[in-house]
Amino acid sequence: NLMDELAKYQELLTVSPQKLKKITDHFISELEKGLSVKGGNIPMIPTWIVDYPTGEETGEYLAIDLGGTNLRVVLVKLLGNCKFDTEQSKYHLPSDIRTTRDKDILFSYIADSVAKFINDLYPNGVPKGKILPLGFTFSYPCTQSRIDTGVLQRWTKGFDIPGVEGYDVVPMLVSQFEKRKVPVKLVALINDTSGTLVASRYTDPATEMGLIFGTGCNGAYYDRIHNIPKLAGKLQDDITQDSPMLINCEYGSFDNEHLALPRTKYDIIIDAQSPRPNQQAFEKMIAGYYLGEVLRLILVELYEKNLILEKYKSDNEGIKLLNEPYILDTEVLTRIEDDPFENLEDTCTLFKEKLHLEFTSPERKLIRKLAELIGTRAARLSICGIAAVTKKMNYLKCHCAADGSVFNHYTNFPARAVDGLADIFDWKLQGLKPEDYPIQIVPSEDGSGVGAAVAAALTHRRIEKGL
Ligand code: BG6
Ligand code: GLC
Repeated sequence: NLMDELAKYQELLTVSPQKLKKITDHFISELEKGLSVKGGNIPMIPTWIVDYPTGEETGEYLAIDLGGTNLRVVLVKLLGNCKFDTEQSKYHLPSDIRTTRDKDILFSYIADSVAKFINDLYPNGVPKGKILPLGFTFSYPCTQSRIDTGVLQRWTKGFDIPGVEGYDVVPMLVSQFEKRKVPVKLVALINDTSGTLVASRYTDPATEMGLIFGTGCNGAYYDRIHNIPKLAGKLQDDITQDSPMLINCEYGSFDNEHLALPRTKYDIIIDAQSPRPNQQAFEKMIAGYYLGEVLRLILVELYEKNLILEKYKSDNEGIKLLNEPYILDTEVLTRIEDDPFENLEDTCTLFKEKLHLEFTSPERKLIRKLAELIGTRAARLSICGIAAVTKKMNYLKCHCAADGSVFNHYTNFPARAVDGLADIFDWKLQGLKPEDYPIQIVPSEDGSGVGAAVAAALTHRRIEKGL
C-alpha cells in the first residue's frame, strides 16, 4: 500500500525540533572553526567590506549579478536618504554555459551583456571620458585579499568550467571588457549574500544577515575583527579589533564531515554523482538546484519496487525521461504543492509535460506528500544557518534579509522556515505568534544588484579617505 510507504519517507525526511537544535549547536562550532587560524569546512570568507552602509551613500553604479539562474545587469542610482533607483536587464544563462569547457565563453557572455546594456543606456555613445564604476556579484566561494579580487575556491551549484578554480576571476572578466572597450572600472567583487546584506542594511539598519535561498543556500553577516583570529597580521592600520568585517560564510559546505545532518541515501547519491563530490553537504540537501532531484530519486525507487507506474512496466522506454538526472527542478515541487485540484489534475498535466508519464490519482497524492516532506525538510534545515549566526553573535532581535528563487517562488517555503526557527528558539512554547518572533526573515527583492552598488560606494569612500 502506497500510504504505508509514505510513513517510511516521513520518518526519513522529518527533522524534529531536538535535531534542529543539535544541528545548530554543531553549526556554531563550525562557524567558529572557519574563523580560526586552522580553518574548517565552512570557509567564513572576510570580504573586506569593513563599514556598515549608512543609507547616505550616493552615486551611479553598474552592477552585474551572476546568480544561479540569471545574469542581470543593473544600473543603480543610490540617492541617499535610504533610497535608490534601479534599471535592469535580465539575461537567461544558457544552460550549457555552466559546464562549458572554455571559460572565455562565460566571461565573454557577461561582457557582451554589459556592453549591450550600456549601448541601450547611451544610444548616442557614452559621454567621452566617462567610466562607469562597476560592482560584480559573483555568487561562488572566492577568497578575497582585497575587495576587488576573488580567487575562486571551487565551483558550486552544478557549475563546472575548467581553468577558473584557483584563479582570480576579476582579470578574466576585465580582459573581456578591455577587448570590447567597454567603459567600466570593476571596483568591487561581492557575493550575493553580502549584496543582500548591504543592500537591505542601506534601507533598514535592523538587518544583521543577508541570506540566499535559491539555486544555492548561503548567508552573510558582520563579525568583529577580534572574533576572527585568522585575520591577525593581515589588517590595514585603520582597522581595529572592534571594527566590523562582513563575512561571507559559504555555509553551504556545513557538515562536509557528515557529523550532524540527517543524510538519506538520496542525498548520498546526489553528492556522489555531482561534479564536486564531498563538497557542499548542507547545500545539496536543501537548495533549489537539488530538491527536484530528491523527488526524482524517490520516484525511481518506488518504480523499481513495483509500487508505481505499473502500466509502464512492460516497456522501459516509457520511463526514459524519469531516469534523466535533474529533469525535475524546484518549480515542479512548487507546482505540485500549489495544485488547487482535489485530484491533483495540474500535477497530472505537469508530469505528462515533463516526463511523458501519467500518474494515477493515488500516486499523485503520494507525490504531493513527498513534495511536502522534501520542501519542509529543506526549509527547516536551511534556517539552522540563521539560528547559528544569530546565536553566535547574540542577536536576540533583528531582521534577516532573504532573496533567491526558492524563497521568492516556493509558496510554502518562508512559513516553514520561520516555523523551524521558532522550534529552535522555543518561540511557540513561549506563546509567541509569528508576527512577534524577535528574529524576522524579511524579503529583500533585488538585493544583490543594489548591494554591489553599495559595496562599490563604500569602497569609493575608503579610497577617497586614502585607505
Ligand atoms: C537573485 C539575486 O534575486 O537571487 C542574486 O539578485 C542571487 O544575486 C539569486 O544570486 C539567487 O537565486 P537563484 O535562485 O538565482 O540562485
Ligand atoms: C552557493 C555559492 C555561494 C552563494 C550561494 C547562493 O552556495 O557557493 O557563493 O552565495 O550558492 O547563491
